[in-house]
Amino acid sequence: MEPVLKVENLKVSFTLEEQTIQALKGISFHVNSGEIVALVGESGSGKSVTCYSILKLLPKYAHIEGKILFRLENSYVDLLSFKKMQKIRGNYISMVFQEPSAVLNPLLRIGEQIVETILAHKDISLEKAKKIAVEVMKKVKIPEPERRFYQYPHELSGGLKQRVAIAIAIVNNPKVLLADEPTTALDVTVSTQILNLFLELKRDLNIGILLITHDLGIVAEVADRVIVLYKGEIVEEADVFQIFDNPSHPYTKKLLSSRPVLKLD
Ligand SMILES: Nc1ncnc2c1ncn2[C@@H]1O[C@H](COP(=O)(O)OP(=O)(O)OP(=O)(O)O)[C@@H](O)[C@H]1O
Ligand SMILES: [Mg+2]
Repeated sequence: MEPVLKVENLKVSFTLEEQTIQALKGISFHVNSGEIVALVGESGSGKSVTCYSILKLLPKYAHIEGKILFRLENSYVDLLSFKKMQKIRGNYISMVFQEPSAVLNPLLRIGEQIVETILAHKDISLEKAKKIAVEVMKKVKIPEPERRFYQYPHELSGGLKQRVAIAIAIVNNPKVLLADEPTTALDVTVSTQILNLFLELKRDLNIGILLITHDLGIVAEVADRVIVLYKGEIVEEADVFQIFDNPSHPYTKKLLSSRPVLKLD
């Protein structure tokens, strides 16, 4: 099977007040369906810019070159020149952020927000959309979904809010999920539950997941492949066992040695 997403020679720069920052210097990688690819690298290495490029959410002053090929009905479209991004975003490709508040509207009941996402892409009745919303809330293991449906974001814990954000991200059965530090704001137990959920999404729904994380423990637990970004360039790409057993780039070695103990089983 061909990859669901292929990024080719992606270059992104920002010019502000005559100063240019080259955030990505020509990176290429792919994500397969049913695979979790971890994107790691120090702060400022270009991880978030990679996600925003894929969804075309960069500011106007960003200069982007290269190709972002997304497999849509058995052929590839280049998202950088694709005119109908609304059809892609939140439907074929969606994103989960570190802070669920980035996507949740504090003034709307969570059920309504899930329903809105469904109706933005599907021409179905409100009743049907409500049923789908409750189903997806069950899928992401929100307890008592029928009751929670009517709650507002502030009535939920951080972990539950992140589950709602994930429910919104997956409700239209996306092919690709971009997750930018999705568990950083959560405690360890909740973080583990969310990561288990990602493993289920990849296995049961065959979603290709690009997971940005600082935490090499998370990489070891859930990733199939790892891409190491350093100052806007990919310096290493390998399957997860190879990275931990035999890191080749000095930066990867440093990254691994700065982590005390790895629980690999
Ligand atoms: N909107 C923007 N305008 C100008 N420069 C930006 C913008 N977004 C990112 N950058 C710059 O691009 C580079 C890459 O940033 P990016 O946010 O992708 O890093 P990151 O790897 O996600 O870091 P972190 O781990 O801290 O989230 C940085 O130098 C950053 O300052
Ligand atoms: Mg970032």
